[in-house]
Amino acid sequence: MAAASPEERREFARDLGARLPAGFVLGAATSAFQIEGATHEGGRGESVWDAFTTQPGRILDGSTADRATDHFHRVDEDAALLHDLGVDSYRFSFAWPRLQPEGKGSLRQAGVDFYERLLDRLDAAGVSTLATLFHWDTPNELRGGWFNRDTAQRFGDFAFQMGERFGDRIGSWVTVNEPATVTLDGYALGVHAPGAARLFNALPAAHHQLLGHGLAVQALRGAAVSGPIGIVNVHSPVVPASGSDADAAFASLFDVLHNRIFADPVLLGHYPDAPEGFEALFSAITEVDPADLLVISEKLDFYGLNYYMPSKIAAGSGGSSTPDGVSSAMASLPFHLAPWPEFPTTGFGWPIAPEFLGTALDELATRYGSALPPVYITENGASFPDAIDLDPENGTPHVHDGARIDYLAAHLDAALQAVTGGGAASGIDLRGYYVWSLLDNFEWAAGYTQRFGLVHVDFEDFTRTPKDSYHWLRLVAESR
Ligand code: NOJ
Repeated sequence: MAAASPEERREFARDLGARLPAGFVLGAATSAFQIEGATHEGGRGESVWDAFTTQPGRILDGSTADRATDHFHRVDEDAALLHDLGVDSYRFSFAWPRLQPEGKGSLRQAGVDFYERLLDRLDAAGVSTLATLFHWDTPNELRGGWFNRDTAQRFGDFAFQMGERFGDRIGSWVTVNEPATVTLDGYALGVHAPGAARLFNALPAAHHQLLGHGLAVQALRGAAVSGPIGIVNVHSPVVPASGSDADAAFASLFDVLHNRIFADPVLLGHYPDAPEGFEALFSAITEVDPADLLVISEKLDFYGLNYYMPSKIAAGSGGSSTPDGVSSAMASLPFHLAPWPEFPTTGFGWPIAPEFLGTALDELATRYGSALPPVYITENGASFPDAIDLDPENGTPHVHDGARIDYLAAHLDAALQAVTGGGAASGIDLRGYYVWSLLDNFEWAAGYTQRFGLVHVDFEDFTRTPKDSYHWLRLVAESR
């Protein structure tokens, strides 16, 4: 991707804005644990991530999310930032342990009050909502976490109470966010909370999250919420590193593990077949009660796609390490993530490959056809080492994040092209695009080392400084 001049970037923003279909939703996203802070206020319970961050060596910079961006105390300021950004919708998550400190029982009033306040401010700002019920902060009291089937029941109960309490206030609902990442990073590789490195024995955590998703859909419908309901899955198109049979076999294994286990049962009502030679390892999902699959495949109103990058898979161990810790944690597996020398990379070392967002959409259309409901891109974005620059003339702070603008522009462009270009994805009803993230925030195992925000956050005094990408996205929004 060639670097563009500021005027070229503005021109492209106007062009993108003009190309957005009528009613297309532009949004910005966050999640509770990554921004709220105030982890000890209002009787909030401990989440698996609170526990994980206190274990030595788990978080790259040794940080916790105890204060994060201090959003809990800055709701007015953050709602104003969304208003001025001109987006239609804000994707945020409810912190389960703030609302049900022990993962069961009635909702805690202090938690309810906090989200009521947030929703009041968003209403006043004219910003609608896409609210996620589970964005990784499992209450630590739920022993065994998602490895325990009962957590799915507890989550269904939480969803019902949230539906009853907030059912007329939320624009759209997401049940669970990226169950693939929770399963793979949290339960298989152990680089995320709860830090379990069970490799293939992690698969029950996938099934229980999907069951929790289905129970939550039923619960929200039972509570008669007014808004549409969906799930958010991360998709990473998988490519074998070479034409060898071994690379091809491991690439299709990784595609199953990362993408298909989480999408097929939701959209098609069954798990993918176990790849040859892996039958025994897959029994945790291939031998489940068919009644569970009926729950998991409850019809959805929309499908949320998170896209960051493709995956190139090669047989054997290897791979270079990145700050997300994933490659290193895969060392004992018989395959690895191969590098993409042809693509530039983000601060995380992730390849910048917008054309693969088109591939992800093509794959959704090809694999799921008429079973695919309308799609929203619920997350897309990039981390870069942004710094504040003071204007030499007047001392005004700026963050010149041209690389992020180019990333967002190329991805939104690729998505629009994919759904209008006459290829497989042209059958997809793409309804919106959310940037990850509104704010720089606590990036899980990478702590505060990776900045994804449209708005820079000073993690000492919590000053917010809109970056160039924020002003750029506003121009896209204004150009519709
Ligand atoms: C997806 C997750 O939903 C979000 O929490 C995370 O910050 C981004 N990926 C970037 O890693």
